[in-house]
Amino acid sequence: MMTVAYEDLQKVNAPFTTQFQASFNEVLASGWFILGNQVTIFEKAFAEFVGTKHAIGVASGLDALYLSFQALDLPQGSEVLVAANAYIATILAILRADLKPVLIEPNLEDGNIDVSKIEKSISPRTKAILPLHLYGNPCDMQPILDLAQQYNLKIVEDCAQAHGALYRGQMVGTQGNLGAWSFYPTKNLGALGDGGAITTNDDVLANKLRALRNYGSFVKYENEYLGHNSRLDEMQAAFLNVKLKGLSDITSHKERLAQLYQSQLHEQFHRTKPVADKRHVYHIFMIRHPMRDQLRKYLLDNGVKTEIHYPIAPYAQKATKGMFTESYPISDEWHKSILSLPISFGHTERDIEYVIQLMNEFRI
Ligand SMILES: Cc1ncc(COP(=O)(O)O)c(C=O)c1O
Repeated sequence: MMTVAYEDLQKVNAPFTTQFQASFNEVLASGWFILGNQVTIFEKAFAEFVGTKHAIGVASGLDALYLSFQALDLPQGSEVLVAANAYIATILAILRADLKPVLIEPNLEDGNIDVSKIEKSISPRTKAILPLHLYGNPCDMQPILDLAQQYNLKIVEDCAQAHGALYRGQMVGTQGNLGAWSFYPTKNLGALGDGGAITTNDDVLANKLRALRNYGSFVKYENEYLGHNSRLDEMQAAFLNVKLKGLSDITSHKERLAQLYQSQLHEQFHRTKPVADKRHVYHIFMIRHPMRDQLRKYLLDNGVKTEIHYPIAPYAQKATKGMFTESYPISDEWHKSILSLPISFGHTERDIEYVIQLMNEFRI
Protein backbone atom coordinates (compact mmCIF):
# COMPACT_ATOMS: atom_id res chain seq x y z
CA MET A 1 0.00 0.00 0.00
CA MET A 2 1.29 3.45 -0.87
CA THR A 3 1.65 5.86 2.06
CA VAL A 4 1.37 9.65 1.95
CA ALA A 5 2.45 11.71 4.97
CA TYR A 6 0.57 14.88 5.76
CA GLU A 7 3.85 16.76 5.94
CA ASP A 8 7.49 15.64 5.82
CA LEU A 9 9.83 18.48 6.74
CA GLN A 10 12.93 16.43 5.92
CA LYS A 11 11.72 16.19 2.32
CA VAL A 12 10.63 19.83 2.22
CA ASN A 13 14.04 21.04 3.40
CA ALA A 14 16.21 18.50 1.54
CA PRO A 15 16.77 20.72 -1.55
CA PHE A 16 18.14 23.47 0.71
CA THR A 17 20.43 21.35 2.91
CA THR A 18 23.78 22.37 1.42
CA GLN A 19 22.90 26.07 1.56
CA PHE A 20 21.58 25.73 5.13
CA GLN A 21 24.87 24.15 6.16
CA ALA A 22 26.86 26.95 4.53
CA SER A 23 24.66 29.54 6.28
CA PHE A 24 25.11 27.80 9.62
CA ASN A 25 28.89 27.84 9.17
CA GLU A 26 28.84 31.50 8.20
CA VAL A 27 26.89 32.57 11.29
CA LEU A 28 28.99 30.36 13.55
CA ALA A 29 32.18 31.84 12.14
CA SER A 30 30.86 35.40 12.50
CA GLY A 31 30.48 35.02 16.27
CA TRP A 32 27.46 37.36 16.10
CA PHE A 33 24.21 35.66 17.12
CA ILE A 34 21.66 38.39 17.94
CA LEU A 35 20.43 41.08 15.50
CA GLY A 36 23.31 40.80 13.09
CA ASN A 37 23.77 40.98 9.32
CA GLN A 38 21.52 38.02 8.56
CA VAL A 39 18.53 39.65 10.25
CA THR A 40 19.24 42.94 8.46
CA ILE A 41 19.55 41.18 5.09
CA PHE A 42 16.37 39.19 5.68
CA GLU A 43 14.34 42.21 6.80
CA LYS A 44 15.32 44.08 3.64
CA ALA A 45 14.63 41.12 1.34
CA PHE A 46 11.32 40.26 3.01
CA ALA A 47 10.07 43.88 2.87
CA GLU A 48 10.98 43.93 -0.82
CA PHE A 49 9.21 40.61 -1.40
CA VAL A 50 6.04 41.75 0.38
CA GLY A 51 6.14 45.27 -1.04
CA THR A 52 6.27 47.33 2.15
CA LYS A 53 8.78 49.91 3.35
CA HIS A 54 9.63 47.93 6.47
CA ALA A 55 9.86 44.39 7.79
CA ILE A 56 10.76 43.85 11.43
CA GLY A 57 11.95 40.37 12.41
CA VAL A 58 10.53 39.01 15.68
CA ALA A 59 10.58 35.72 17.56
CA SER A 60 7.28 34.19 16.33
CA GLY A 61 3.98 34.79 14.58
CA LEU A 62 2.20 35.13 17.91
CA ASP A 63 4.65 37.86 18.94
CA ALA A 64 4.26 39.56 15.53
CA LEU A 65 0.52 39.90 16.21
CA TYR A 66 0.90 40.85 19.86
CA LEU A 67 3.65 43.43 19.25
CA SER A 68 1.56 44.92 16.42
CA PHE A 69 -1.23 45.62 18.89
CA GLN A 70 1.18 46.93 21.50
CA ALA A 71 2.64 49.33 18.92
CA LEU A 72 -0.83 50.60 18.00
CA ASP A 73 -1.41 51.47 21.66
CA LEU A 74 -5.20 51.10 21.57
CA PRO A 75 -7.13 51.91 24.76
CA GLN A 76 -7.24 48.94 27.15
CA GLY A 77 -10.30 46.75 26.51
CA SER A 78 -10.81 48.00 22.94
CA GLU A 79 -12.66 45.56 20.73
CA VAL A 80 -10.93 43.79 17.87
CA LEU A 81 -13.11 42.09 15.24
CA VAL A 82 -11.82 38.67 14.18
CA ALA A 83 -13.20 35.47 12.61
CA ALA A 84 -14.76 33.04 15.11
CA ASN A 85 -12.84 30.10 13.59
CA ALA A 86 -9.46 31.82 13.98
CA TYR A 87 -6.37 29.96 15.15
CA ILE A 88 -5.88 30.20 18.91
CA ALA A 89 -2.64 32.23 18.52
CA THR A 90 -4.60 35.00 16.82
CA ILE A 91 -6.99 35.24 19.76
CA LEU A 92 -4.17 34.92 22.32
CA ALA A 93 -2.36 37.91 20.80
CA ILE A 94 -5.46 40.11 21.19
CA LEU A 95 -5.97 38.99 24.78
CA ARG A 96 -2.32 39.43 25.67
CA ALA A 97 -2.51 43.04 24.46
CA ASP A 98 -5.38 43.65 26.95
CA LEU A 99 -7.89 43.94 24.13
CA LYS A 100 -11.20 42.15 23.59
CA PRO A 101 -11.68 39.76 20.67
CA VAL A 102 -15.19 40.09 19.19
CA LEU A 103 -15.91 37.05 17.08
CA ILE A 104 -17.51 37.27 13.63
CA GLU A 105 -18.81 34.22 11.79
CA PRO A 106 -16.70 33.00 8.84
CA ASN A 107 -18.17 32.23 5.45
CA LEU A 108 -18.39 28.55 4.60
CA GLU A 109 -16.86 28.99 1.15
CA ASP A 110 -13.33 29.63 2.41
CA GLY A 111 -13.43 30.09 6.20
CA ASN A 112 -12.40 33.73 6.06
CA ILE A 113 -14.27 36.40 8.02
CA ASP A 114 -17.74 37.02 6.53
CA VAL A 115 -17.40 40.65 5.52
CA SER A 116 -21.19 41.09 5.33
CA LYS A 117 -21.35 40.48 9.11
CA ILE A 118 -18.67 42.89 10.26
CA GLU A 119 -20.54 46.20 10.33
CA LYS A 120 -23.29 45.13 12.73
CA SER A 121 -20.63 44.15 15.29
CA ILE A 122 -18.95 47.56 15.28
CA SER A 123 -19.50 49.39 18.57
CA PRO A 124 -18.02 52.62 19.97
CA ARG A 125 -15.35 50.43 21.62
CA THR A 126 -14.30 48.79 18.34
CA LYS A 127 -10.84 49.95 17.39
CA ALA A 128 -9.46 47.33 15.00
CA ILE A 129 -10.21 44.56 12.52
CA LEU A 130 -7.94 41.52 12.29
CA PRO A 131 -8.35 39.83 8.89
CA LEU A 132 -6.79 36.37 8.98
CA HIS A 133 -5.94 35.09 5.50
CA LEU A 134 -6.83 31.53 6.36
CA TYR A 135 -4.85 28.69 4.73
CA GLY A 136 -3.13 31.19 2.42
CA ASN A 137 -6.28 32.56 0.79
CA PRO A 138 -6.74 36.33 1.10
CA CYS A 139 -9.77 37.82 2.84
CA ASP A 140 -12.09 40.12 0.88
CA MET A 141 -10.01 43.16 1.76
CA GLN A 142 -11.89 45.93 -0.05
CA PRO A 143 -15.00 45.90 2.20
CA ILE A 144 -12.70 45.62 5.24
CA LEU A 145 -10.64 48.62 4.12
CA ASP A 146 -13.85 50.60 3.45
CA LEU A 147 -15.24 49.84 6.93
CA ALA A 148 -11.92 50.68 8.58
CA GLN A 149 -11.91 54.03 6.87
CA GLN A 150 -15.57 54.75 7.64
CA TYR A 151 -15.28 53.87 11.34
CA ASN A 152 -11.65 54.89 11.87
CA LEU A 153 -10.43 51.39 12.71
CA LYS A 154 -6.91 50.00 12.53
CA ILE A 155 -6.18 46.85 10.55
CA VAL A 156 -3.70 44.16 11.64
CA GLU A 157 -3.52 41.40 9.03
CA ASP A 158 -2.70 37.87 10.15
CA CYS A 159 -0.50 36.71 7.25
CA ALA A 160 0.97 33.73 9.14
CA GLN A 161 -0.33 31.29 6.50
CA ALA A 162 -0.20 33.48 3.42
CA HIS A 163 3.34 34.20 2.20
CA GLY A 164 2.97 35.48 -1.34
CA ALA A 165 -0.85 35.54 -1.41
CA LEU A 166 -2.30 38.35 -3.52
CA TYR A 167 -5.51 40.34 -3.32
CA ARG A 168 -6.19 42.32 -6.50
CA GLY A 169 -2.51 42.08 -7.38
CA GLN A 170 -1.28 43.34 -4.02
CA MET A 171 0.38 41.11 -1.45
CA VAL A 172 -1.35 40.48 1.85
CA GLY A 173 0.34 42.38 4.66
CA THR A 174 0.53 45.61 2.65
CA GLN A 175 -3.00 46.97 2.91
CA GLY A 176 -3.57 47.07 6.66
CA ASN A 177 -1.61 49.22 9.11
CA LEU A 178 0.48 46.16 9.99
CA GLY A 179 0.92 42.62 8.67
CA ALA A 180 1.99 39.82 11.02
CA TRP A 181 3.88 36.81 9.65
CA SER A 182 5.01 33.46 11.05
CA PHE A 183 7.97 31.39 9.86
CA TYR A 184 7.01 28.29 11.86
CA PRO A 185 8.73 25.33 10.13
CA THR A 186 5.61 24.04 8.34
CA LYS A 187 4.73 27.40 6.79
CA ASN A 188 5.33 27.96 3.06
CA LEU A 189 8.25 30.16 4.15
CA GLY A 190 9.33 28.05 7.12
CA ALA A 191 12.48 28.40 9.22
CA LEU A 192 14.20 25.59 11.14
CA GLY A 193 12.68 26.82 14.37
CA ASP A 194 10.45 29.70 15.46
CA GLY A 195 10.43 33.07 13.75
CA GLY A 196 8.13 35.89 12.71
CA ALA A 197 8.01 39.36 11.18
CA ILE A 198 5.83 42.45 10.96
CA THR A 199 5.46 44.40 7.71
CA THR A 200 4.32 48.01 7.48
CA ASN A 201 4.63 51.21 5.45
CA ASP A 202 4.36 53.31 8.61
CA ASP A 203 7.77 54.71 9.66
CA VAL A 204 6.66 55.56 13.20
CA LEU A 205 5.20 52.11 13.91
CA ALA A 206 8.23 50.40 12.35
CA ASN A 207 10.59 52.37 14.54
CA LYS A 208 8.59 51.61 17.67
CA LEU A 209 8.44 47.91 16.81
CA ARG A 210 12.23 47.74 16.43
CA ALA A 211 12.45 48.94 20.01
CA LEU A 212 9.59 46.83 21.37
CA ARG A 213 11.19 43.59 20.21
CA ASN A 214 14.42 44.55 21.98
CA TYR A 215 13.46 45.47 25.57
CA GLY A 216 11.90 48.75 24.36
CA SER A 217 15.35 50.11 23.62
CA PHE A 218 16.81 52.11 20.72
CA VAL A 219 20.10 52.79 22.49
CA LYS A 220 21.69 50.03 24.56
CA TYR A 221 20.64 50.24 28.23
CA GLU A 222 18.21 53.12 27.56
CA ASN A 223 14.59 52.01 27.57
CA GLU A 224 11.84 54.02 25.95
CA TYR A 225 9.07 51.39 26.25
CA LEU A 226 8.27 48.37 28.40
CA GLY A 227 9.47 46.04 25.68
CA HIS A 228 10.24 42.37 25.20
CA ASN A 229 12.91 39.98 24.14
CA SER A 230 11.35 39.00 20.82
CA ARG A 231 14.08 39.19 18.21
CA LEU A 232 14.23 37.09 15.07
CA ASP A 233 17.10 34.71 15.77
CA GLU A 234 20.20 35.37 13.65
CA MET A 235 20.58 31.68 12.71
CA GLN A 236 16.91 31.45 11.68
CA ALA A 237 17.30 34.63 9.62
CA ALA A 238 20.25 32.99 7.83
CA PHE A 239 18.08 29.94 7.02
CA LEU A 240 15.22 32.20 5.94
CA ASN A 241 17.55 34.05 3.56
CA VAL A 242 18.08 30.71 1.83
CA LYS A 243 14.43 29.70 1.91
CA LEU A 244 13.08 33.05 0.68
CA LYS A 245 14.98 32.51 -2.57
CA GLY A 246 13.16 29.18 -2.97
CA LEU A 247 9.72 30.45 -2.03
CA SER A 248 8.45 31.00 -5.55
CA ASP A 249 9.34 27.36 -6.42
CA ILE A 250 7.62 26.18 -3.24
CA THR A 251 4.49 28.19 -4.03
CA SER A 252 4.25 27.15 -7.66
CA HIS A 253 4.75 23.50 -6.68
CA LYS A 254 1.86 23.77 -4.20
CA GLU A 255 -0.29 25.58 -6.77
CA ARG A 256 0.31 22.71 -9.21
CA LEU A 257 -0.74 20.14 -6.60
CA ALA A 258 -3.79 22.24 -5.69
CA GLN A 259 -4.74 22.37 -9.36
CA LEU A 260 -4.83 18.53 -9.39
CA TYR A 261 -7.21 18.51 -6.41
CA GLN A 262 -9.31 21.30 -7.91
CA SER A 263 -9.69 19.66 -11.30
CA GLN A 264 -10.02 15.99 -10.30
CA LEU A 265 -11.71 15.71 -6.90
CA HIS A 266 -15.34 14.64 -6.99
CA GLU A 267 -17.87 17.41 -6.38
CA GLN A 268 -18.97 15.84 -3.06
CA PHE A 269 -15.82 17.39 -1.54
CA HIS A 270 -16.46 21.07 -1.07
CA ARG A 271 -13.36 23.19 -1.67
CA THR A 272 -12.61 26.87 -2.05
CA LYS A 273 -12.92 27.69 -5.74
CA PRO A 274 -10.20 29.85 -7.27
CA VAL A 275 -11.34 33.44 -7.95
CA ALA A 276 -9.84 35.95 -10.35
CA ASP A 277 -8.90 38.67 -7.86
CA LYS A 278 -7.06 36.40 -5.38
CA ARG A 279 -3.93 34.29 -5.41
CA HIS A 280 -4.35 31.47 -2.88
CA VAL A 281 -0.91 30.09 -1.94
CA TYR A 282 -2.26 26.86 -0.43
CA HIS A 283 -0.41 26.68 2.86
CA ILE A 284 -3.26 24.24 3.49
CA PHE A 285 -5.62 22.54 1.02
CA MET A 286 -8.93 22.29 2.84
CA ILE A 287 -12.03 20.37 1.88
CA ARG A 288 -15.33 20.12 3.74
CA HIS A 289 -17.40 16.97 3.95
CA PRO A 290 -20.40 15.99 6.11
CA MET A 291 -18.77 12.63 6.94
CA ARG A 292 -15.39 14.16 7.71
CA ASP A 293 -14.40 11.76 10.48
CA GLN A 294 -15.29 8.65 8.47
CA LEU A 295 -13.45 10.06 5.45
CA ARG A 296 -10.39 10.78 7.57
CA LYS A 297 -10.35 7.24 8.96
CA TYR A 298 -10.84 5.74 5.48
CA LEU A 299 -7.86 7.72 4.17
CA LEU A 300 -5.70 6.75 7.14
CA ASP A 301 -6.64 3.07 6.70
CA ASN A 302 -5.38 3.44 3.14
CA GLY A 303 -2.07 5.07 4.08
CA VAL A 304 -2.94 8.78 3.76
CA LYS A 305 -2.49 11.13 6.70
CA THR A 306 -4.62 14.26 6.98
CA GLU A 307 -5.01 17.02 9.58
CA ILE A 308 -7.77 19.28 10.91
CA HIS A 309 -7.07 23.00 11.14
CA TYR A 310 -8.56 23.25 13.70
CA PRO A 311 -10.65 20.67 15.54
CA ILE A 312 -11.78 23.00 18.36
CA ALA A 313 -12.92 26.62 17.90
CA PRO A 314 -11.22 29.25 20.09
CA TYR A 315 -14.52 29.95 21.89
CA ALA A 316 -14.91 26.24 22.73
CA GLN A 317 -11.48 25.83 24.34
CA LYS A 318 -11.11 25.21 28.09
CA ALA A 319 -8.75 28.18 28.27
CA THR A 320 -11.44 30.62 27.07
CA LYS A 321 -14.29 29.25 29.19
CA GLY A 322 -16.79 32.00 30.07
CA MET A 323 -15.17 34.50 27.70
CA PHE A 324 -17.48 34.12 24.70
CA THR A 325 -21.18 33.78 25.44
CA GLU A 326 -22.72 34.03 21.95
CA SER A 327 -23.25 31.06 19.67
CA TYR A 328 -21.45 30.65 16.36
CA PRO A 329 -23.37 28.01 14.36
CA ILE A 330 -21.51 28.61 11.10
CA SER A 331 -18.15 28.31 12.79
CA ASP A 332 -19.39 25.16 14.59
CA GLU A 333 -20.35 23.68 11.22
CA TRP A 334 -16.93 24.67 9.88
CA HIS A 335 -14.97 22.95 12.63
CA LYS A 336 -17.05 19.77 12.26
CA SER A 337 -16.61 19.39 8.50
CA ILE A 338 -13.12 20.61 7.54
CA LEU A 339 -10.23 18.37 6.55
CA SER A 340 -6.72 19.36 5.41
CA LEU A 341 -5.27 17.20 2.64
CA PRO A 342 -1.54 16.60 1.99
CA ILE A 343 -0.01 19.45 -0.01
CA SER A 344 3.62 20.34 0.50
CA PHE A 345 6.89 20.94 -1.33
CA GLY A 346 7.79 17.36 -0.35
CA HIS A 347 4.78 15.78 -2.12
CA THR A 348 4.83 14.56 -5.70
CA GLU A 349 1.98 14.71 -8.21
CA ARG A 350 1.81 10.93 -7.85
CA ASP A 351 1.17 11.30 -4.08
CA ILE A 352 -1.68 13.70 -4.74
CA GLU A 353 -3.14 11.55 -7.52
CA TYR A 354 -3.22 8.62 -5.10
CA VAL A 355 -5.11 10.75 -2.54
CA ILE A 356 -7.55 11.89 -5.23
CA GLN A 357 -8.14 8.38 -6.48
CA LEU A 358 -8.87 7.13 -2.96
CA MET A 359 -11.15 10.02 -2.18
CA ASN A 360 -13.14 9.59 -5.38
CA GLU A 361 -13.72 5.96 -4.39
CA PHE A 362 -15.05 6.99 -0.95
CA ARG A 363 -18.66 5.95 -0.49
CA ILE A 364 -20.85 7.21 2.32
C1 LIG B 1 -3.13 31.98 11.50
C2 LIG B 1 -1.98 31.93 12.43
N1 LIG B 1 -1.76 32.96 13.26
C3 LIG B 1 -0.72 32.97 14.11
C4 LIG B 1 0.15 31.91 14.18
C5 LIG B 1 1.24 31.94 15.20
O1 LIG B 1 2.48 31.80 14.64
P1 LIG B 1 3.68 31.16 15.50
O2 LIG B 1 3.43 29.69 15.59
O3 LIG B 1 4.90 31.48 14.69
O4 LIG B 1 3.68 31.83 16.82
C6 LIG B 1 -0.02 30.83 13.31
C7 LIG B 1 0.91 29.68 13.24
O5 LIG B 1 1.14 28.83 13.92
C8 LIG B 1 -1.13 30.82 12.43
O6 LIG B 1 -1.34 29.79 11.61
